[in-house]
Amino acid sequence: MAVKREQWGSKAGFVLAAAGSAIGLGNIWKFPYVAGQNGGAAFIIIFLLCIMLIGLPVVIAEILLGRKTQRNAVGAYKAISKSNWWAAVGGMGVLTGFLILSFYCVVAGWSLGYVIEAVKGSFFNFEQPVQAGVYFNQLIENPVWGLGTLFAILAISMVFVFFGIKKGIERGSKVLMPLLFVLLLALMIRGLTLDGAGAGVKFILKPDWSKVNANTVLEALGQAFFTLSLGMGALITYGSYMESKDNVPTAALQILTLDTLISIIAGIAIFTSVFAFGLNPEESGGLKFYDEGLIFQVIPVVFASMPGGYIFSIIFFTLLSIAAITSIMSLLEVVVAYFVDERKWKRRKAVLLIGLFALMMSVPSMLSFNLLSDMKLFGQTFFGMTNYLSSNVMLPLGGFLISVFIFKVWGFDKSEAELKLGAESTFSKYYWFIRTWKFLIKYVAPVLIFIVLLNSIGVLKFITKLF
Ligand code: PHE
Repeated sequence: MAVKREQWGSKAGFVLAAAGSAIGLGNIWKFPYVAGQNGGAAFIIIFLLCIMLIGLPVVIAEILLGRKTQRNAVGAYKAISKSNWWAAVGGMGVLTGFLILSFYCVVAGWSLGYVIEAVKGSFFNFEQPVQAGVYFNQLIENPVWGLGTLFAILAISMVFVFFGIKKGIERGSKVLMPLLFVLLLALMIRGLTLDGAGAGVKFILKPDWSKVNANTVLEALGQAFFTLSLGMGALITYGSYMESKDNVPTAALQILTLDTLISIIAGIAIFTSVFAFGLNPEESGGLKFYDEGLIFQVIPVVFASMPGGYIFSIIFFTLLSIAAITSIMSLLEVVVAYFVDERKWKRRKAVLLIGLFALMMSVPSMLSFNLLSDMKLFGQTFFGMTNYLSSNVMLPLGGFLISVFIFKVWGFDKSEAELKLGAESTFSKYYWFIRTWKFLIKYVAPVLIFIVLLNSIGVLKFITKLF
């Protein structure tokens, strides 16, 4: 007899864990620099459209699929379609999870390493970002530091997954997420009360459309998928521990709202501080302002210069590490759930082996900043390549396939019935929501994702040239 599948202790527990997965380096590390590269508020507007039109319907779809089948990503597709082809789509999700883990843990490790630097007071030695940049490069060029921090962040995240859904992931998220929120609010208030913060606020709120092009939309879509943990089965997996009495649309809206709110608050906290320090992204004096180094090269100097800087820099890197840990938990859980359900491994064995494997996979990404920095594929390092491929190509592709799966394979009659379960009270008032969801899943999400994907692989340029 199979043991009963573990369930979340409460709907709030599920929402916090899913928000924990969603809120991560994507919100605090990636969002500000991608927005910065792509015209600030103009990017944010396109990003919000992607979240509402594509993110929300796909979040709901993933949770429903998991809740209905009570299976991991591979098992969920298989249970409904009885087809190995669709099971392979789930398999692609598990693989994407691994790819993301491999570069994600590297940056997560830097964050943890920077908590220690902040505590040591290292940032007070810098007056200019250039010095912080040199220091950052020295650290990431040191493979021992890289490996140590990588190991530490992965080990911490593994502990939660090791203890299972309710006792590990849910319990951890219930403590860590509120803590993260409070820390980030403190930072935002500090940022807003600095002299000269206005320029930073303007940067986020005033759109600069001149920087927007086709690639911006691709970036916004990629960011929407990445930040919501969509397209690889993380929400299928988390949804599979949910009971059918829980209301999925409201849970999805809560996750979405929390995630978006955190990105914006992080943007405000970071840009107000940066601008108040007198740094203008346009004149950063040769420093690569908007790349993955932004928060490690600019933030330490900026924080060190503000009143209370010692505390605020510790707060910043602590909250960044917390955000990363709850996301790594979900990435690990996708793979663990697959081995537990499909291969009948014991959870604890799965966590240890997969954690070890993730550590090994992360090493080439970590070495992209030192020993392997000259090894380039298509002009990108291993780190850059896995980052781009997984977030901008594989996640949208996964999202496209799940939308098609919902209306073509599962069918709207059955998925609609599942959507209504636990949400009867919502739909007695807002029936239009179901119709809108179906419309978005069938026409808007797949079509938009498809166009963006074609563009990303250069097909669109080719077609427009033909005419
Ligand atoms: N959503 C996480 C973030 O923004 C990253 C992530 C992607 C986690 C996919 C799980 C699955 O940092």
